[in-house]
Amino acid sequence: MRGQSRSNRLIRSHGRILLATGILLIAGTVTLAQMVPDLSGPPDQMGEVRAEPVPKWVVDDVRKMRAYPDQPPVIPHSIEGYQLSINSNRCLSCHKREFTEASGAPMISVTHYMTREGQMIADVSPRRYFCSACHVPQADTRPLIENTFRDMSEMGVKHLGDQ
Ligand code: HEC
Ligand code: HEC
Repeated sequence: MRGQSRSNRLIRSHGRILLATGILLIAGTVTLAQMVPDLSGPPDQMGEVRAEPVPKWVVDDVRKMRAYPDQPPVIPHSIEGYQLSINSNRCLSCHKREFTEASGAPMISVTHYMTREGQMIADVSPRRYFCSACHVPQADTRPLIENTFRDMSEMGVKHLGDQ
């Protein structure tokens, strides 16, 4: 009899803990959802929305500094109308090793000639064929959310060759 009432009490207290955890979880999710900025447009998804003009690309031909050494460099020129399909790759007609002398374009980096095992091959690796999967042009627009990125060289690193 005594044992039974103790197990009843145990079950009740477990129930209360479960309930409290549940409430905490729901409250936490709601707060998190409110913290995530709304990037997907207005809440009235089916309504009519004014279409903002497509921003103009920066096409000044000035190669941009990379934010970290292995960042895919951004494209500083127009790529309007450049075909990039399984049969034809306009980018390679300037950036491939064989064509850089005539085009003056920087050669696709050595990593683009490596298989995933690091084996060098004679042509661009299939995993680097679709350039715009990694390289994108830039537009001068307002950031959607605040950006707190800091260059790693500003984080107290002593640079080689500074003295
Ligand atoms: C007509 C030749 C030509 C074509 C086609 C071309 N590029 Fe370029 N690209 C250049 C030249 C020249 C530069 C050097 C900067 C400049 O003059 O714009 C350059 C610079 C770049 C850079 C910057 C490299 C760096 O280190 O900062 C990237 C990335 C790039 N191109 C990607 C592409 C991609 C992707 C395509 C295809 C969608 C493409 N390019 C098509 C000639 C070309
Ligand atoms: C999977 C991602 C990826 C793809 C696809 C890709 N690149 Fe890159 N690219 C990079 C990265 C990362 C770097 C910088 C680090 C490095 O050299 O690997 C780079 C570097 C470059 C550079 C600078 C080379 C230098 O020495 O300054 C050029 C130019 C370039 N890529 C052009 C291209 C072109 C043209 C294509 C398509 C044929 C292409 N990339 C496809 C990721 C990619």
